[in-house]
Amino acid sequence: MNEGELLSRVDKSKLPRHVAIIMDGNGRWASGRGLLRSAGHSAGVKTLKKILTTAVNLKLEALTVYAFSTENWKRPLAEVDFLMHLFSEYLEREKREMHEKNVRIRFLGRTEDFSPLIQSQMRDAVELMKNNTGVKFNIAADYGGQDEIIRAAQKLARRVASGEMPAENIDAAVFESELDTAGQPPVDLLIRTSGDMRLSNFLLWQAAYAEFWFTKTPWPEFTPEEFIDALIDFGKRARRFGGVT
Ligand code: IPE
Ligand code: IPE
Ligand code: MG
Repeated sequence: MNEGELLSRVDKSKLPRHVAIIMDGNGRWASGRGLLRSAGHSAGVKTLKKILTTAVNLKLEALTVYAFSTENWKRPLAEVDFLMHLFSEYLEREKREMHEKNVRIRFLGRTEDFSPLIQSQMRDAVELMKNNTGVKFNIAADYGGQDEIIRAAQKLARRVASGEMPAENIDAAVFESELDTAGQPPVDLLIRTSGDMRLSNFLLWQAAYAEFWFTKTPWPEFTPEEFIDALIDFGKRARRFGGVT
């Protein structure tokens, strides 16, 4: 099916506003083919490019992808180095095209442990796309949901300690305004590839009422077609948010 036919299968009025993806299974996909895990990560970057293009064509409001968790530093140094190299290369290579597609990039997570080069590439990409009005594309890198919540709590504690506001002013909206996703809608649909059914510290706050969609397909084999299947399935879900329908 070509992209046009694929997109025509989607009822635009039932699309999620914010889709989040745990891009999992690169390593297992590669090992299963007798390749190095790094080959899986390279293949995964190609999938990401296709899925972002589909999100642009569908005019999704926000797409968040989990690229590197606060726990992924535990991996062998060679794998971490490879991932950093890939991240840097990806930003350098793709930022122009993203900009042309009116994508607005944002990074979720800590930044200080990345190399100075990567930190400057992240700042440059954000700066380049800061006035764009298309898909809000969030890359979660050195991201952990718990870490994000702790950082938000620290910022709020400082605001209270400085006398800017009383502690009683902290409500869900104020709390959200200190999260890395400030100003963006909550996650409607959370996809995880490669068979595991867990959050792995992703978007703990933002996914409070997300619909989950799991597939056994490893990330390197995930296609726009399957992405659209997930979106169509989302359109059939009954979301009650604690109420009754
Ligand atoms: C996801 O694939 C990419 C990152 C975590 C960076 P994995 O590397 O986790 O692949 P598996 O889950 O080991 O197969
Ligand atoms: C989650 O996948 C992180 C990313 C996809 C970037 P992991 O592969 O790190 O998660 P676990 O270890 O299986 O929970
Ligand atoms: Mg994994």
